[in-house]
Amino acid sequence: MTQPLTADIGSMVDLVKSNPSMEASLRALLLLLGAAPDSSVIVTALGQLDADACGSDELREQAAALLDKADAPQLAALWRPATAETNVVPLHGGQSATGIATGIGFDDIGGLEDVKRQVRRKIINPFTSKRALFEKFKRKAGGGVLMYGPPGCGKTMLARALATECNTSFKDVRAADILDQYVGNAEKRIAALFQETRANRPAVLFFDEVEALAQRRQFDSTRSVNTVVSALLTEMDGFAGDNEGMLFLGATNVPWSLDAAFRRPGRFDRTIFVPPPDRVAREFIFKGALDGRPVAKDLSIEALVEKTSGYSGADLGALVETATDYAIEDSRSDEEIEPISNAHFKEALREVRSTVGEWLGQARNFADYANGDGTYDELAEFLKKYAR
Ligand SMILES: Nc1ncnc2c1ncn2[C@@H]1O[C@H](COP(=O)(O)OP(=O)(O)O)[C@@H](O)[C@H]1O
Ligand SMILES: [Mg+2]
Repeated sequence: MTQPLTADIGSMVDLVKSNPSMEASLRALLLLLGAAPDSSVIVTALGQLDADACGSDELREQAAALLDKADAPQLAALWRPATAETNVVPLHGGQSATGIATGIGFDDIGGLEDVKRQVRRKIINPFTSKRALFEKFKRKAGGGVLMYGPPGCGKTMLARALATECNTSFKDVRAADILDQYVGNAEKRIAALFQETRANRPAVLFFDEVEALAQRRQFDSTRSVNTVVSALLTEMDGFAGDNEGMLFLGATNVPWSLDAAFRRPGRFDRTIFVPPPDRVAREFIFKGALDGRPVAKDLSIEALVEKTSGYSGADLGALVETATDYAIEDSRSDEEIEPISNAHFKEALREVRSTVGEWLGQARNFADYANGDGTYDELAEFLKKYAR
């Protein structure tokens, strides 16, 4: 993520920092950055500076233009001199400004019918086919949904599919884009982000691995973490602006480490449990991963599906790669290929274990002892079935 700065740029950044109102050094820095081979350097360098203290409107506009080119619209918004319209970066339907790879739809996700149904009901319908109905019933389309579940089981993938299915603007937020070593900048970025998204409603704002931004506040933790959480909560409540037509979507492996305040009405008030792939999903994943590879006639996908209950999607991917490695080892040359067989998978299964078990063990505690408000009902339900 962060590229090291060259000595030139590094010392110029320090110079601007030491005297932000001196235009000459900022001008020199922008010249250097304009010639930088890697655009991430632009983001790293300007991200360290307090935009409000720097330069003239003309220079700030130059900085913002560089940041636009470097694909950092939020940071650009901080630099851009405040004139009403230019603060807003347009988002496109089904595509985020950070360039999330869309083109994934629900058809690319195997099984998980239950989850898909919930996603349709809780997220897609209010925005699309049922929008008029929602308006009739004066039901607000918005608020937040938190997807949670073991790692590697399709949460990020589902969100990407959603971006396509919803056909609204979809903004992918990364913690690294928000968090900043300089206290105060993170809050400004959060404000800019919400402002940008409000201008493009209806919109989905997706916080992947949301625990990085929304972790539980602690009395002894640094002030900056707590102020980020507060800023995020304030923006989600819409005090700073109207949030009608905005949906907050969060994904996390550790829902219990989120600050409890995020679960209140209007914030992430609905949850969707994304379980490990069911049979249909496992078959789908195996077939997808093996597609185009030489496979022995005796290979039974059905048997593999049977043996891999509790494997995550990522685990299944690793399993196929390992079995493939064994087949490659057994092949003499590209003329004498040993196709991937049951024996290869048998070996691979000894090596690649499910990573979900540990997660479930931890999750069980929360489902048993921290489910007073029903947050983990679906998880509890799953654990009951899974234990059998
Ligand atoms: N139901 C599924 N159908 C197809 N692929 C899946 C499914 N679940 C998981 N995968 C695969 O597993 C990988 C990990 O999924 P990801 O969405 O990154 O998990 P998470 O965000 O929950 O940690 C993805 O590359 C995806 O291809
Ligand atoms: Mg993920």
